[in-house]
Amino acid sequence: VCTPTVQPLLAGKTLTITAGPTREALDPVRYISNHSSGKMGYALAAAGVAMGATVNLISGPVNLPTPVGVTRINVQSAQQMHQQALALAPSSDIFIGCAAVADYRAADIAEQKMKKQGDELTLTLVKNPDIIADVAALSENRPFTVGFAAETQDVATYAQGKLKNKKLDMICANDVSVQGQGFNSDNNALTLFSHDSTQSIALMKKDKLALTVIEAIATKLV
Ligand code: CTP
Ligand code: CA
Repeated sequence: VCTPTVQPLLAGKTLTITAGPTREALDPVRYISNHSSGKMGYALAAAGVAMGATVNLISGPVNLPTPVGVTRINVQSAQQMHQQALALAPSSDIFIGCAAVADYRAADIAEQKMKKQGDELTLTLVKNPDIIADVAALSENRPFTVGFAAETQDVATYAQGKLKNKKLDMICANDVSVQGQGFNSDNNALTLFSHDSTQSIALMKKDKLALTVIEAIATKLV
């Protein structure tokens, strides 16, 4: 058996990752969410442990086992994820926002199950906090902050716009218009944009990709 050696590039470092979807309640039995599987975030958490980091994983509802050595914090809503992220970020060296955070939540959560009424239903949604932008805006103990951008068009332009607008240190851009990569897949290809470099990583298994991403981050830390 050939086990590839992984360098302990993150020994002594704390890494906090958000992963999976968020779930925004409409009433006691219904919610708004998305198809994020959490696989990329979980692979990053495992890669962080392999490279010697202390890893916190703030996870939305997913069907994945907790990687060995990872401290997992379960959340449901974007507001809960925001609270946990801001609590852990100042004691983290690196923060990776891999979660597919719901951009909006219901303005009001019905206390009782909503009853079917007319032929149309209008829901009023309000914007959720931008978790990674708030982490990147920390004035003290700000971690090296890495975002993800899943795009279906103009991938580089949108991703670089997010890097700048959210004041991130790096963004991992993901072209989800291509079949077999990204959402729910075991494989992914990424382009990593930072302010002074661009690195394209070809399609590969998410666990191997995660090691490459963590390695790229570690290189920027020193
Ligand atoms: N993100 C976040 N909090 C939000 C929305 C997004 O932390 N409320 C993070 C994601 O985890 C990801 C990055 O921001 O790291 C980009 O997410 P994305 O959905 O691509 O960007 P948005 O700013 O929400 O823009 P849009 O959905 O309109 O493309
Ligand atoms: Ca979004």
